[in-house]
Amino acid sequence: MTRHKITPRKVAFDWSKTRPQWIEGEAFISHLTNSTHILLPIVEVWFCQVFKEALPHVTDDKVREDVIAFMRQEAIHGAAHKPLIEHFLQHGMDIRDGAARTQRMIDRLLGDPARIFGLLPTGRRLARWWLGTRVGIIAAGEHFTCILGRFILENEELPRLDADPAMMELLRWHGAEEVEHRSVAFDLYKHLTGAPLANRLLVMGFIIPFLTWYWIESTRYLMRQDPALAIKPGFFAEWRRASSRNLIPSARDLLGGSWRFLMPGYDPEKEADTDIALAHLAKSPAVR
Ligand SMILES: [Fe+2]
Ligand SMILES: [Fe+2]
Repeated sequence: MTRHKITPRKVAFDWSKTRPQWIEGEAFISHLTNSTHILLPIVEVWFCQVFKEALPHVTDDKVREDVIAFMRQEAIHGAAHKPLIEHFLQHGMDIRDGAARTQRMIDRLLGDPARIFGLLPTGRRLARWWLGTRVGIIAAGEHFTCILGRFILENEELPRLDADPAMMELLRWHGAEEVEHRSVAFDLYKHLTGAPLANRLLVMGFIIPFLTWYWIESTRYLMRQDPALAIKPGFFAEWRRASSRNLIPSARDLLGGSWRFLMPGYDPEKEADTDIALAHLAKSPAVR
């Protein structure tokens, strides 16, 4: 459980000098990270909807306080990424249909239980199971946002690249708050369901193929939409090349990390260092 009070922070970014290929000479890493501007405004709103539905079932004051602060942070995160979809239009890059497709897919996969389980009797037990399982999917997703947040905060190679400062700060500020609130979703999952191994396997079994598929498809899509890119680099060769230079996490680090989530003694607090995140947030130029 988080030991300190989670703080939602208002932020402001100036995108006037930011191009879609925001790291000079690194189209793949630029667009791999740009995929967050499509997915996060959608799923972070969905996190808030699920947690709002879960709140009446919470009987622990500390869990409730953390869940409310988490919802406020996630709402600000999604809203901070969203303007980049419109901003990229000024650079001839239209990704609005990709965002609409992603929204439809999330609604279909993770939305209203009555529609998803249309053929099954949607009694109270199934509704409660689906609520707990969706909180589990969020906890599994937050396990990865913590790994990625820690990576961007502690990485020493990225600052050596010729990168757009506003985009770099968006990722660092977001990463730092992901580290700060890393325990909240798992605490809620444990509080509501006990986080049993069978359900953890189920939610990991959803999140790993989903994220793998999403990153491949969306990065390829963004590279196709970028008129400034004459050659569209291949996903897997570029991933290997970038991870061997320690510019993105390796597939082994990400998959290895997923095992820890399944271990009986899994504790998100041990996944990162809150002090490093808070130190960055204290000096972040984006935080108002
Ligand atoms: Fe977030
Ligand atoms: Fe988060």
